[in-house]
Amino acid sequence: MQELSTDIPRLRRPLVLVGLMGAGKTSVGKRLAHLLGVGFIDSDAEIERAAGMAISEIFARLGEPAFRDGERRVIARLLAERPGVLATGGGAFIEPRTREAIAGLATSVWIRAELDLLWDRVRDRPGRPLLQAPNPRGVLGDLLDKRYPIYAEADVTVDSRPGVTQEWMAREIVRAVRAWDAGRAGRPATFEERAQ
Ligand code: S3P
Repeated sequence: MQELSTDIPRLRRPLVLVGLMGAGKTSVGKRLAHLLGVGFIDSDAEIERAAGMAISEIFARLGEPAFRDGERRVIARLLAERPGVLATGGGAFIEPRTREAIAGLATSVWIRAELDLLWDRVRDRPGRPLLQAPNPRGVLGDLLDKRYPIYAEADVTVDSRPGVTQEWMAREIVRAVRAWDAGRAGRPATFEERAQ
């Protein structure tokens, strides 16, 4: 694998991780925040804290539209805070208003992975209401078909493959965002590069 620079730039805009369930947004996001020396927030955890209920309970008691509404409001609030790493739930970036808010205030990174890998990671973990279905792998595949063209609107895409470490993914995201910063057209830079 390619050697990556150890010189870490300073974050000026939030980095928002998007992608399907099982992509590794939370685990890689924590590692990335550590690497950059900034805070990490998971939007699902924040919604649970604000609602005082687990995500599955919010879906069951209030329904998905209420969850999406809470998700949009929580993400809008988090985007206005000090720049850090924000891992979003898989459906967040699919909501047009949330996507717009992210595009305006942050740099978005899609962690892309193939269905087999995603399924391997989520199959034994309960708690995701959308996968409480008779054919959860089929549901995940349908979501992939529907959502991948939308995740592709993210500023930067990084592929997760079987066997890559979270540390490698975090460094790969820094590399990819730096490259995107260097070629950006009229958008503020994500990183403030330190003088060499
Ligand atoms: C969802 C993904 C979940 C959570 C909720 C809905 C989705 O987050 O927000 O269950 O619509 O894909 P993760 O992607 O972190 O599992």
